[in-house]
Amino acid sequence: MKKFLFVCNFKMNSVAVEDYQNAFASNDSDNIIVCPNFCDIKQFAQLKLLHIELGAQDVSEYDCGAYTGQVSASMLKDSKVDYCIVGHSERKKYCFETLDQISAKAKNLLQKNITPIICVGEEILCKKEELQIDYSKKYVCAELSKILQNIDAKKVIVAYEPIWAIGSGKIPTIQHINAVCGAIRQNFGVNIVLYGGSFSLKNYQQIMDTDADGALIGGASLHAEEIAQMVNSTLKNN
Ligand code: PGA
Repeated sequence: MKKFLFVCNFKMNSVAVEDYQNAFASNDSDNIIVCPNFCDIKQFAQLKLLHIELGAQDVSEYDCGAYTGQVSASMLKDSKVDYCIVGHSERKKYCFETLDQISAKAKNLLQKNITPIICVGEEILCKKEELQIDYSKKYVCAELSKILQNIDAKKVIVAYEPIWAIGSGKIPTIQHINAVCGAIRQNFGVNIVLYGGSFSLKNYQQIMDTDADGALIGGASLHAEEIAQMVNSTLKNN
């Protein structure tokens, strides 16, 4: 059975590293990645001893220089980061990030052997339900054809995150998730496709039954014991 990946995006929240240390004290699974805020990254690097991988939430599109407030891919590498989220919808919305910038960020990361976790997803639900799946597939594929230009798609992780599902408690149907994940794999040759948006203790089993290879988790990841509960149940089921 496939290994389901849990990518925890703490966003601009502080999570105590001890919470994860306690929840995963005897962890022997290797399917968890935590993405703390930049200030907490070095502390969370300790979790590698518990087989928990380290990710960041963003990276600069530049290598170094006069870019106040930005962090480069080599700085992340020096801080033991192996994964990095790029193009999250909150960065598109609040920082006006473009698809070209997201593509440049992903290229920078790959040059430093950091795996980009590229977020894509449509903003709104279609008024006509029967058009939804087609619309989502087209939207996501249009975003990826720009972002993945001159990028080896096998080296990246893609997270399908319908924006309407983020933090809203709403999730797409299994059929919808499967169709979009399938389109991403078939059209671009991406190997690892995650689902993101309101993933929680309430719905995780349903989402784990889809073709997604894992989940990008916001709100629920602030509670280490909930993540441990979900991870443990995948181990029992395998
Ligand atoms: P959520 O966030 O799990 O809180 O909906 C997911 C995300 O923004 O990546």
